[in-house]
Amino acid sequence: MSASHARSVRVRLAERSYAIELGVGSLGGLGEAVRARLGATRALILSVPPVGRRYGAAVTRSLRAAGFRVKRFEVPDGERSKNLRQAERLYGEMLEAGADRGSSVVIALGGGVVGDLGGFVAATLFRGLPVVQVPTSLLSMVDSSVGGKTGVNVAQGKNLVGAFHQPSLVWIDAATLRTLPPRQLRSGMAEVVKHAAIWDARLFSRLERQLEPLLALDPDVLVPILERNCRIKASVVSRDEREGGFRMLLNYGHTLGHAVESLKGYRGVLHGEAVSMGMVYAAALSERLGKAPEGTRERLEALLRRVGLPTKLPSFERRAYLRALSVDKKKRDSRIRFVALRGIGEAETVPLLPREILPAGALTRQC
Ligand SMILES: NC(=O)c1ccc[n+]([C@@H]2O[C@H](COP(=O)([O-])OP(=O)(O)OC[C@H]3O[C@@H](n4cnc5c(N)ncnc54)[C@H](O)[C@@H]3O)[C@@H](O)[C@H]2O)c1
Ligand SMILES: [Zn+2]
Repeated sequence: MSASHARSVRVRLAERSYAIELGVGSLGGLGEAVRARLGATRALILSVPPVGRRYGAAVTRSLRAAGFRVKRFEVPDGERSKNLRQAERLYGEMLEAGADRGSSVVIALGGGVVGDLGGFVAATLFRGLPVVQVPTSLLSMVDSSVGGKTGVNVAQGKNLVGAFHQPSLVWIDAATLRTLPPRQLRSGMAEVVKHAAIWDARLFSRLERQLEPLLALDPDVLVPILERNCRIKASVVSRDEREGGFRMLLNYGHTLGHAVESLKGYRGVLHGEAVSMGMVYAAALSERLGKAPEGTRERLEALLRRVGLPTKLPSFERRAYLRALSVDKKKRDSRIRFVALRGIGEAETVPLLPREILPAGALTRQC
């Protein structure tokens, strides 16, 4: 691994503080890093086939070389594995494999699905085993692996069952992004753009300047941008571990994004694609509400288009959207804490009724 690309970000949460270690080609260093931080001697690696096939052997080798006994576990790829049935199966397999309270650590090797499911299993098995997150998708590197939210889906909705369980370490090898399908890479970019839009105008300008090398995964551009994103997520999480007002800003673009995902039945649209549409709409609404200066939406939309993300909400009836907004779990009384931009790089929450978020005619105007 090139030492010049090694970066470290601290997530400050008192006794639950941990490091995010970034590198390029750094998977081989994972074993030593885990051993240096934890007393564990048994590593339980969870993955999905597309990731396990590519990186499972390197991670296993690294952990074995550091003295761990290693067992690998797999669930089928995709969101459909993030459920209690898979969790229960994993409890059984892990117990059979000798998992124990004092000496086991769960290694979640994969995207957000593996991170959320592996984190949930770690949070609940023996009332809590340490977990190390090894995110391999862009979304999981900049978003889901940091912050300690873990969970599974149930029939009534996504992520409704879960636990806060901070990882002991987040180990990011940016080289793994080279095998991530391009559409997944673009989708993850939506969260990168989101961080810049709500928090960091300089990062936003940098994305505008360096988008091509970033999408080409040039490490000199990629690693500092990953680091900046991890710092933003880490600082938001440190201020507000349990999702009070502040962490809500991370929901920018997600109110309508979630509505789009649910109206589409979670098929044919990736999370970041839906968030991209939701962010552009939210920027337009921010302008209409007089919160953001004119031109904010245009600038955001231009960048998202260059990424290759969709920016227009799909045409479902307004009624359907209103219904989807009202079941959003972030609903407070009947108002939704909608995240509006004050401009590029700054956001606030505004309590709005669903019909204020989607005034008549808004869908044809795209706000
Ligand atoms: N916990 C949180 O705070 C949080 C935040 C945001 C999202 N999430 C959750 O994250 C999940 C989405 O995560 P995701 O977008 O990473 O989806 P994912 O885990 O399904 O990964 C996307 C696809 O990319 C593949 N993949 C991942 N890394 C790869 C690599 N390096 N090479 C080749 N293929 C690779 C996966 O196998 C999968 O097919 C959702 O379940 C969402 O609810 C959680
Ligand atoms: Zn998101």
